[in-house]
Amino acid sequence: MAGEIIEKIAALKRQRRAVILAHNYQIGEVQDIADFTGDSLGLSIEAAKTDAETIVFCGVRFMAETAAILSPEKTVLLPEAMAGCPMADMIDAKQLAELKKRRPAALVVCYVNTTAEVKALSDYCCTSSNALQLVRSLPADREIIFVPDRNLGQYIVDRTGREMILWPGYCLTHARITAEDVAKARATYPDAVVMSHPECNSEVRACSDELLSTGQMLKFAAGSARRRFIVVTEIGIIHSLKKANPGKEFIPVSDRAVCPNMKKITLEKVLWSLQDMQYRVTVPEDIRVRARLALDRMLEVIPK
Ligand code: 13P
Ligand code: SF4
Repeated sequence: MAGEIIEKIAALKRQRRAVILAHNYQIGEVQDIADFTGDSLGLSIEAAKTDAETIVFCGVRFMAETAAILSPEKTVLLPEAMAGCPMADMIDAKQLAELKKRRPAALVVCYVNTTAEVKALSDYCCTSSNALQLVRSLPADREIIFVPDRNLGQYIVDRTGREMILWPGYCLTHARITAEDVAKARATYPDAVVMSHPECNSEVRACSDELLSTGQMLKFAAGSARRRFIVVTEIGIIHSLKKANPGKEFIPVSDRAVCPNMKKITLEKVLWSLQDMQYRVTVPEDIRVRARLALDRMLEVIPK
């Protein structure tokens, strides 16, 4: 059954001149049929440079929107119309405009987990891969507003020493992970390295060995001489980590760390998406042009 669906997807992909991009949190079956899997930064780079006519984006809406902002001439499809990111919806354009009015001299940095409208009101965009470098590159005398993730924001403040005005948004999935979960996993696997995502809360970040984006976790695990890793982020990445590192062991810190929106996409939905060319994601041109500026400034900052 799955084999049949995969064959149909491959045939339609050729017919539509399509490329399939999948985030590291997607279910294993979807990651396995993708042309490219990666973190938010890697997927944005791929979306900007592909010469395919259609991009099937296996992720959440803001990721497909980012692809549509970067490649307006392409057809961008999200296989599940309701796959959103609750954190991205924790600030809207009206709220950001009000905050900017109160701090008119501030530069606005938005996490890529935002709507196109919020990106259009921002000076810079960043992902968890390049946030530190991006904020370090900003003029020291300028006030900075950072939206919407207070956890990623506080991590940047802690690492760079730059004070920022933080919006109180957060990821509901990473919020389910507690410092007790980390302590329990460490007690069971004392030799393991604890790799956590900066979207985790401050107590979890404080008891971690490494704070990394999902793409950075993949690089770190591949380059490390250590054999065992406690993975403190959404569980989908365990699939990518195991696949890339067959001799190493990856332990999810909590089986509650599941992003329900990332899990809405299935092989069937990818097939239907290519069959019916649905669900098309577009961004109004005036918003797209302004959001593109913030994304272009982000794409100039590739972490070393
Ligand atoms: P990265 O893959 O960029 O680390 O982002 C994690 C995330 O939560 C995306 O929604
Ligand atoms: Fe949004 Fe969190 Fe899901 Fe990422 S894991 S898409 S930040 S809800």
